[in-house]
Amino acid sequence: MLNHRFITEFEDAASFVDGAVEFLQRFAEGKKVFCALSGGIDSSATYLLLKKAGIENIPVFIDHGLMRIIRGKEERDQIKKIFPDVRVIDIRETFLPKIYDAGDDAENKRKLFKAAYSEVISNVIKEEECQLLADGTILPDIEESFGVKITDINESMTTEEEAELLEANKAKFVKSQHNVSIEYDVEATVQPVASLTKNQVRAVLEYFKMPVEQVYRKAFPGPALATRIIGAVTEENLELEKKVHDIVESAVDDYYMKTTKKPMIINAAGEQEPFQAFAAVGEDVLSKKVTGLVNGARTYGLPAVEKGKLDLDKLIAKASKLTGKSRLLYEMATRETGTYDVIVRSINSKDARTASVTKLPATVLDGIKKSLLAIPEVKRVYLDVTPKPPATIEYV
Ligand code: XMP
Repeated sequence: MLNHRFITEFEDAASFVDGAVEFLQRFAEGKKVFCALSGGIDSSATYLLLKKAGIENIPVFIDHGLMRIIRGKEERDQIKKIFPDVRVIDIRETFLPKIYDAGDDAENKRKLFKAAYSEVISNVIKEEECQLLADGTILPDIEESFGVKITDINESMTTEEEAELLEANKAKFVKSQHNVSIEYDVEATVQPVASLTKNQVRAVLEYFKMPVEQVYRKAFPGPALATRIIGAVTEENLELEKKVHDIVESAVDDYYMKTTKKPMIINAAGEQEPFQAFAAVGEDVLSKKVTGLVNGARTYGLPAVEKGKLDLDKLIAKASKLTGKSRLLYEMATRETGTYDVIVRSINSKDARTASVTKLPATVLDGIKKSLLAIPEVKRVYLDVTPKPPATIEYV
């Protein structure tokens, strides 16, 4: 199988789109292309480019039941509104029981998602007789997966050549969670946004006049809310997670809209601020191990906790020097009633490889705390004040 990537220097969205259209016409003209839409910005840009290039394609959104809700709106409704052509494949009935049975091992949960996605994708590719698959792989995915600069790889590569490259650069890998390793029964993949950073992808969406909430949509992991539920996923904690996630993401969004008129800014450090804002839930989280990142390798340890008056600068400085623990959590609230702990996390980042903690004002944090405590199931509220490294972005 071949992978075709559009390799280019990004100057502006208009000339990028012209180049990407030419690339797609060169490799995909006259062929039928499968296009998975996740709701995120990378796959949205890929789909819009296919449409612009006039390539016949099957856009598919897989609804497994663990997508986030934003401002009360389910992801499948949101995507249907922006892209009415999308085919929503509902696997909730078969997938949710599997994830409920998966236990608390995060890798196990991740594997189930990978298997479910690839089964659906393979079926559609077969039924529709698609010759190609388009994906929204972007620059950091390539550079992190191969350990080389994108300008050092060829536009078209066979999977064997890629395997050699992966082997040669093994030592430089940061993570192994990318979809580049899944092979489908197609002649080739086409990756029109492979040279772009997230920010450049946003510029392309702006060029296509996408609504602002789509242009600035925050990154969301493939294993969806399973990466934000600490321990086994249950019907009860999933419902709570959706609710608290929406509270946190919407409150952070409101704050940026109010102060900067945009849901996201580029800060003085060049980071997208906030890059991701979310809540994680679990029972008795202080007794549960959490992932960390030390010298490029994942660690797994207990979180440390800090109480008292909130001094975010001091807390972040302390968290940056953490040793022996994977996180520093600031206790925002605790009470006798309720079952679940909620961890509030908002981070700024260029490309998810490193991240700093968003310095949300005390008033915003207070508002979030009040909304969370209005939910009877919530017992404690923590703020994760750990940068990446020594933490990872996700809690699980
Ligand atoms: P971490 O937690 O590794 O996250 O610092 C870095 C970025 O990757 C996302 N993430 C994932 N994305 N599958 C994905 O597709 C995963 O298993 C996964 N885990 C984390 C995370 O949201 C962040 O943007």
